Amino acid sequence: MDADVEIPDLRWVDDEPDVDWDELSELYRVAPLGVKPPDALAIVFGNSMFSCVVYAGDQLVGAGRAIADGLDCAYIADVAVHPDHQGRGLGSAIIRRLLGRAAGHKKVILYANPGTESFYVGLGFLPMATAMGIWADKTSAIENGLLRRVD
Ligand SMILES: CC(C)(COP(=O)(O)OP(=O)(O)OC[C@H]1O[C@@H](n2cnc3c(N)ncnc32)[C@H](O)[C@@H]1OP(=O)(O)O)[C@@H](O)C(=O)NCCC(=O)NCCS
Repeated sequence: MDADVEIPDLRWVDDEPDVDWDELSELYRVAPLGVKPPDALAIVFGNSMFSCVVYAGDQLVGAGRAIADGLDCAYIADVAVHPDHQGRGLGSAIIRRLLGRAAGHKKVILYANPGTESFYVGLGFLPMATAMGIWADKTSAIENGLLRRVD
């Protein structure tokens, strides 16, 4: 089902180059999805093949993006919904929109914030048995439950 049809009081914008990066940074802070400086958001959204932002009136209430190679793999990141709008299907609609735009890729991957795995299972994702990663800040990633130490 099209996300616009599901939640008709919201305005969706794909691949918006003129996002208010300060407002987007604030969305991630309150969602919460951590500290994401405005300048960094401009770079990572600008370098993503697909992105969407969602407005309720003038307020930015949801966002997400996907890095993709156009054929094999797409990676979804930075999906967040403002707390005032959580629990009404918007997060699911953002994921479905990105999945729709990445249709044709052989795999779509992401890593869940610890505790949110069931949200993604509900959208058709399965845990990856051999996912591995290198983080710049390995210590924090281990503390936050994103990486496991190997003995
Ligand atoms: C996770 C998040 C994007 C979900 O958005 P949302 O609009 O509240 O989610 P939806 O209303 O579409 O919920 C869809 C389903 O997922 C479940 N769900 C929502 N948030 C969840 C969470 N944090 N953990 C587990 N399940 C969750 C809902 O209960 C709902 O289940 P149902 O279909 O059985 O009723 C939103 O809570 C958020 O921005 N959280 C903070 C940032 C974050 O963790 N982002 C994910 C990064 S991995």
